[in-house]
Amino acid sequence: MLRIAVLFSGRGSNLQALIDGTSSDNFPATIICAISNVPDAYGLKRARDAGIETLTINHREFSSRENFDKALDDALRDRNIDLVCLAGFMRILTLGFVEAWQDRLINVHPSLLPAFKGLDAQQQALDAGVKLAGCTVHFVRPGVDDGPIISQAAVPVLDDDDADTLSARILVQEHVIYTQSVKLIAEGRVQVKAARVFINPN
Ligand code: GAR
Repeated sequence: MLRIAVLFSGRGSNLQALIDGTSSDNFPATIICAISNVPDAYGLKRARDAGIETLTINHREFSSRENFDKALDDALRDRNIDLVCLAGFMRILTLGFVEAWQDRLINVHPSLLPAFKGLDAQQQALDAGVKLAGCTVHFVRPGVDDGPIISQAAVPVLDDDDADTLSARILVQEHVIYTQSVKLIAEGRVQVKAARVFINPN
């Protein structure tokens, strides 16, 4: 069983998708803890309701990014975490943390990377006038929303979309590919070679 920690900052719908996915029969991974940097994040309730250990590590209580990341790192190591899943975790992690967790740290982002990195990716897609938008699950590297891509899903951009309707359509796919990606990693089928990820057949 792969031991997972999910890090989030807000509503936690991706956390919920991972809770639901990992609780299905024979899923090869289990969520050991859910960690929020925001004390009243709704995702904390989702995790508690599922009987998962929750931790709040409030970045405001730390004097530096390094100290905050050290507290995260300690919590993860104390629990023998194998894979860290960022799920709407809105903090930039230090180089030291990202390097320490290289290839054991993944993120979901609401665009077809490398397009539209950073905040408001869905509005960026609308502003650019693209006809296809989507989401990406990737291994985390030091650059923001950068790293080898594990999985992507595309959705159409419709003429009457605004950021909310497009975000909702993308989010449905985030939930699907995030759970699938975790499963592939837990099955040992994911291989990273430089910028590319290869999925070994069953
Ligand atoms: C998701 O759309 C996720 O892709 C995005 O935040 C949202 C969190 O929603 N993450 C980023 O933009 C990271 N760059 P959730 O809390 O309901 O999972």
